[in-house]
This record gives sequence, C-alpha cells and structure tokens, in this order.
Amino acid sequence: MGLLIKNGEIVTAADRFVADLYCDGGKVVAIGESLEKRGARDEVLDASGQFVFPGFIDPHVHMELPFMGTVSADDFASGMASGIAGGTTCIIDFCIPARGESLLEGLKTWRERSRKAVADYSYHMAITGWGDKTAEEMRLVVQEHGITSFKVFMAYKGAIMVDDGELYQVMKQAAKLGAVVMVHAENGEAVYALQKELVAAGMLGPEYHPVSRPSAVEGEATERALMMAALHGTRAYIVHMTCKESVQALERAKLRGQKCYGETCPQYLLLDDTVFTKPDFEGAAYVMSPPIRPPHLGHHDALWTGLTSGMLDSIGTDHCPFTMEQKRMGKDNFTLIPNGAAGIEDRLQLLYTYGVCEGRFDMQRMVALGSTNPARIFGLYPRKGVVAVGSDADLVLYDPTSEGVRSAKTHHSKCDRNIFEGFKVRGKPTCVVVNGRVQFRDGKLDVERGAGRFIKREVTKSGAPHAAGAAAAGRTG
Ligand code: URP
Ligand code: ZN
Ligand code: ZN
Repeated sequence: MGLLIKNGEIVTAADRFVADLYCDGGKVVAIGESLEKRGARDEVLDASGQFVFPGFIDPHVHMELPFMGTVSADDFASGMASGIAGGTTCIIDFCIPARGESLLEGLKTWRERSRKAVADYSYHMAITGWGDKTAEEMRLVVQEHGITSFKVFMAYKGAIMVDDGELYQVMKQAAKLGAVVMVHAENGEAVYALQKELVAAGMLGPEYHPVSRPSAVEGEATERALMMAALHGTRAYIVHMTCKESVQALERAKLRGQKCYGETCPQYLLLDDTVFTKPDFEGAAYVMSPPIRPPHLGHHDALWTGLTSGMLDSIGTDHCPFTMEQKRMGKDNFTLIPNGAAGIEDRLQLLYTYGVCEGRFDMQRMVALGSTNPARIFGLYPRKGVVAVGSDADLVLYDPTSEGVRSAKTHHSKCDRNIFEGFKVRGKPTCVVVNGRVQFRDGKLDVERGAGRFIKREVTKSGAPHAAGAAAAGRTG
C-alpha cells in the first residue's frame, strides 16, 4: 500500500517548496506536482498549510542504559515512541561496554536490548578502557558490524572514564579506520576532586552539582580532546557542548583546518542553573553532565551563535531519563544522583519555537542541525536526513499554527518529569511517517514493537555537514 502526501511544503537543509510526495515500499519514490494515487488502497494525507520535514535524527540518546547504579527509564520501545511523537524517526544510541568488557560482548547486549525498537537505529561504540584486543575489536566493529563512530568519556572517574593514554590510542586507531570519535569532554580528575571537597564540606544538595563541574573543566577537556584528534587526523565530534570555553576551543580547531564537529542540546540553550535550586529536591530532575550553565556568563549566547554561524553542527538531546524515585538515590549526596533527563520528544517543537520563530535560524538550518548533519556526519545520508527520491520515507508533517505547552503530563516518555515543563511551543507534528507507515497521527501513537531495523553504516570520507545549512543561517523561516 502506497502513501500519497498532497500539497505540503517540503523543507530540506537546502530548500523549501510545495509539492506532492509518493511513498512505497518504505521509500520516497516520487516528488512532484499533481501526483496521483497508484493503487486503490493507497492512503492519502492532505498536508496543505503544513511543513514536510525529513524525519529528525537523534544522534545522542541512552535507552535502557545501566548507569550510576540504576537503568535509564526509557527502553528502545518507549523512548523511540516518545521520539516519534516529537518527530524523531531514527536514533543513534550508545553501546557502552563495562570497563574491561569486550566490545563485541557489549554489542550482543545492546542488540538484545534494541530488539524492541519501533524505528530504525544504529549505535556508537563506547571505548571505556584500553587492552590488548581493543584495536582489533574496533576494526571489527567498523568493518564487520557497520558501526563507524566511537565514544569516549573524559569524565565519570572510576566508572567509564578513559585516561589520556587511552584517549590517545582510541584517536589513533579510529583515524586508521576512518571512524569518528565522539567525546564527552570534561576534566574527570578535576570533577572528582571538586566533588570530594564539596561532599567533605557538607555541600550535598543538587545545587552543588554545577559547582563540581565548572565550565573551565569542559573547556580544557574539549581543547585536549581536539589536540589528541589533531595528532592523528581523527574526525572528532564533541557531544553536549554547554559553554563558551568549549565553543571557542572548537572554533580554534575548525579555523586551523581540523575536521571536527560540535553538538549541543536544547536544555543547554533554554535552561539556566537556577533550576538546581528548586525546592523539595526537584533540582535533581535537572542533574546531568555537563551541567546547565548560569544565565549571565555568555554561555547561552555562545551556543546560539555557534549554531547560527555554522560553528556548531548538530543538536541532539542526550535523552537519558531517570524518574524522581531514581533521582532520590542521591537525596543525601548529589554525586549519587543519576545523571540525565528526557528530551527526545521536545527537541523539534523547541527548535521551531525558540530557534526559527524567534529568528535565530531558518527552517532549513533547523533541518540541517536536527536531521541532515547528523545523517551526514554519521554515514546515514542520503538514506536518511533528506526528503528525496530513493530516501527512506521518514517524514514529519508539521502544523505551524498550533500552540501548546510541553509537559510530563502529556509526553510519552516513561519519565515523570519534563525539564521543559510549561515551555510554550508553536507548531506540532500532526503526522509522523516511519519507513512509509504513519506511526503518529493527531496525538496518537501506532508503533510496532520490533519494527525498527539496525542500520549498518559505512565510513564516509567527508561527513561534511550541509554547507547550505550554514550559509542559510540568519535567514528567517
Ligand atoms: O548526564 C548525562 N549527560 N547523562 C548521560 C550520560 C552522558 O554523559 O551523556
Ligand atoms: Zn556525556
Ligand atoms: Zn549522553
């Protein structure tokens, strides 16, 4: 059965135009004027007055992640369903083997977890230590399993943090394989020392979480990671950037010709550190690393400017939800609060409202940041990240006239808090098509557990983000 979408305004990273779309066999097979049904059972959607975006891709999520003594609250079914309700049709999760565990063993565990996926997905492979077999396992991961990006954590000492020697080896081997290395950039030793001092001084509430992770520790680690990547010519991608020091480090690297990318997330653009002082331990809901930054030091402006200028390339969510009950593991000691929050469902509406409607960037740039660039950087393009003949029929119909409010009462994540609670939003996804099938319509999900496919990726030489997206920055949508 085919799907015909009539009269929508198609928005890609480069263009916007009104046209019809015909999808069949999970692919877009025609784009043009006055397209007609090809079979009696074809479904027709009227998209008049609506935008048609390529499905958004979230390159940074953690479904069912065992972390800090508990497990993130959404799995591949609930988390991806929540994503679909928010216009995200493909995710790249992180496979994180325990320190000392083989990468291939870790991969088996993640394959089991993702069997319930309701839409397409891939993984980045985290390297949490370096042993005799790591280099060869990295090769197998890339060349046989189609996982072409790695991840290192420069923080979380005593758990998944790598030291500089390990970081050096990962960068070196990834460069040989042509893989991207993603980096959680914070100086883990400094964070650990600061945490110990604060706890010893009886400073135990969630408001001390940001004190233990000042922006300087993020800036220094970003600089160090980029230096390590430069030594080997590795393509580096700095995840969840929050502050001006790290944006400046990335800018210096880009200006000296290094191939590197920067990601931020809506929470770092739209929230500030006053959230940590909410009464009744509610500040714990916002505990994530790196932390949300103070409003007055220029961090938010640096991030927005980075997005509009093309210095930052991508917006992920770092969806890693923990319920309040889970957060209470750290009620007497902020260092024990599981780090992370939900966000996969909120991203598109927040970017449209606070990015496009507020004139910070245009819709094409929004599509570049949330779909096309992640697809290009991580080797999913042009199968995903674009509305084009031959691409997967992952599409979002977006009604710009609707007005609403983000809330845990209405989101589809299993998390009982929404860090954007009460945020007004303009526009909403009315219909989300995943691989040619409508899986979200008028507020109702119709997902199929297990229908998601693991997407094998290939090493891309350029991985260049969409140039037109950067060039278009500043135009209004
Ligand atoms: O606090 C966060 N960000 N939790 C998820 C793990 C990570 O560091 O990305
Ligand atoms: Zn991280
Ligand atoms: Zn993360």
